[in-house]
Amino acid sequence: MTPCPVALSRDLPPGGVKRVFARGRELALWRGASGQVAAWDNRCPHRGMRLSHGFVRGDRLACLYHGWQYGTDGTCAHIPAHPELCPPATIRATGCDAAEAGGVIWVAPEGYAAPPELPRGLVALRSLTFRCDAARLARICGLEAAPVLYLPDHPSLVILPNPLPGGQVEAHVLTAPLPAADRVAAVHLTEALRRAAEAEETA
Ligand code: FES
Repeated sequence: MTPCPVALSRDLPPGGVKRVFARGRELALWRGASGQVAAWDNRCPHRGMRLSHGFVRGDRLACLYHGWQYGTDGTCAHIPAHPELCPPATIRATGCDAAEAGGVIWVAPEGYAAPPELPRGLVALRSLTFRCDAARLARICGLEAAPVLYLPDHPSLVILPNPLPGGQVEAHVLTAPLPAADRVAAVHLTEALRRAAEAEETA
C-alpha cells in the first residue's frame, strides 16, 4: 500500500516530536539532532505514557513520565532511576518505517513501501485539516479519492490527503515554486476548498 503522508519535513525540525496518524495508528513522530526521523507507536514501553509528550535529547527520545530514553532504533538506552543499568534489549519502542521524499515524511504502517513519485521541484505550501473524509475532499477538488490529488484547475498544486480518526482528513499541500503573491493566492485557494468541503458536510 502507499505509505501515509504524515507531515511536511519542514514542520518537524531536529529536536521536534509530534503526534500523527497513519491509517488509524497513533504514532509519535520525532527527529533526532542528526536529522533522522522515527515513527513509533505512541505508547512508552514502560507505563504507557504518550511518547509524543516526550522530548528529544540528541538522537534519543525521552519519555515525559519517568525519563526513559530510547535511541533511534527504538531500544531503551537509559533509565534515569538506574543510571548504572544497561537496559535489556527487549525494552524497545515499536513503530513503522518512516522515510522522507519530496519534502514530505511518509510512514508505512504495513511495512516498507516506496512513496509515490511526485513531480520534481515541488515545495511545501502548508498542511491543513478538513472536517470531512478523504472522499469528500477529493470530490470538492473534482477528483476521485487517490493518494495524490492533482488539481485539474490549478496545475501548480498537489494535495496529499492523510485520513485521520473521526472522519477528518489532513491535507499536505505542495506547489510549484511561485512568486509570493501567487503563494498567498494558493493558500487562499486551500481555505476555499476547506470551506466548500465543510459546508457540504453540514448541508
Ligand atoms: S511511562 Fe515512560 S518512562 Fe515511565
